[in-house]
Amino acid sequence: MPDIIIASMPAVASARSERSSFASRFLIRCAAFSLRRPCKLAKTDKMVYIKSILKAEVFTLDKEQLLAIQKIFNESKYMVFLGGAGVSTESGIPDFRSTDGLYNQKYDYPPEVILSKSFFDADPETFYRFFWDKMVYPDAKPNAAHRALAELERAGKLKLIATQNIDGLHQMAGAHNVLELHGSVWRSYCTRCGKPYTLAQLKQKEGVPHCDECGGIIRPDVVLYEEPLNMGVLRAAAEAISRADTLIVGGTSLLVYPAAGLIDYFGGENLILINRDATPRDSMATHLVKDNIGDTLSQIVK
Ligand SMILES: NC(=O)c1ccc[n+]([C@@H]2O[C@H](COP(=O)([O-])OP(=O)(O)OC[C@H]3O[C@@H](n4cnc5c(N)ncnc54)[C@H](O)[C@@H]3O)[C@@H](O)[C@H]2O)c1
Ligand SMILES: [Zn+2]
Repeated sequence: MPDIIIASMPAVASARSERSSFASRFLIRCAAFSLRRPCKLAKTDKMVYIKSILKAEVFTLDKEQLLAIQKIFNESKYMVFLGGAGVSTESGIPDFRSTDGLYNQKYDYPPEVILSKSFFDADPETFYRFFWDKMVYPDAKPNAAHRALAELERAGKLKLIATQNIDGLHQMAGAHNVLELHGSVWRSYCTRCGKPYTLAQLKQKEGVPHCDECGGIIRPDVVLYEEPLNMGVLRAAAEAISRADTLIVGGTSLLVYPAAGLIDYFGGENLILINRDATPRDSMATHLVKDNIGDTLSQIVK
């Protein structure tokens, strides 16, 4: 399927009145868009993206904005958070697309190539070298963003965290309702017999890890590029977002589909977008904060 179609998903799911046909629409769209892949922007989307960059003011949270968002948080009954790699940069885990992200370091291939299924099959050795070097941060600790979101969940406000991250930091901060759209580095399994392995067990193995039971190659339980996302997980995230009155989107470039397309299921009142760099969806936000998500959320959630 050409990327251009993926990038041109219409925002059809926003109206509350349309929710009755949610299931059928969702299945059609899932079938079409479930493969994890970066988008190349189609011409019209490129224009929207450029316009949103030009339009987006670069501002941090001023007093007025802070009070307005705190009021929204207080009054919301059903909040959902959709996040990405930027949520964990303040924990010392690089994202892909910031100036200090993985794209801007020297590798023979970009991360999306090394972390693809075809690359894993062709060269698991290089895949694992990259994996241990750049994807696994066993000592990383939750930061202010993870803690604020866990606090919102404890308060009964935040019903779901849908994350593209594979680092487990939301759970480490105490959140329970977490959907890991792209899986987790903390789990792996044998590609032949399915035997599960923990990260510690995987770490003990030299080079390309093989299964104790059957000798098959073990792989991390993460969704690689070119692979479909788990339909149940995707559906649950879309359903929660379609029910939400407030959606907080943060720390994501909104360029990796189908996760980025989940924003189209939102039909509530408040879309709060907290991201350092511009995204193609900035113009959709009712509140746009272009600053660090840890600082921002900890100011809002006190
Ligand atoms: N921690 C992780 O688990 C991790 C790390 C790197 C990449 N990934 C994977 O890479 C893919 C990349 O997509 P993505 O959209 O999640 O990330 P991305 O790298 O494409 O974009 C990250 C975005 O976060 C913003 N950002 C960075 N630090 C921030 C901060 N402190 N506060 C606010 N904004 C900040 C950047 O401006 C950027 O737009 C995802 O599929 C994800 O699975 C995960
Ligand atoms: Zn096995």
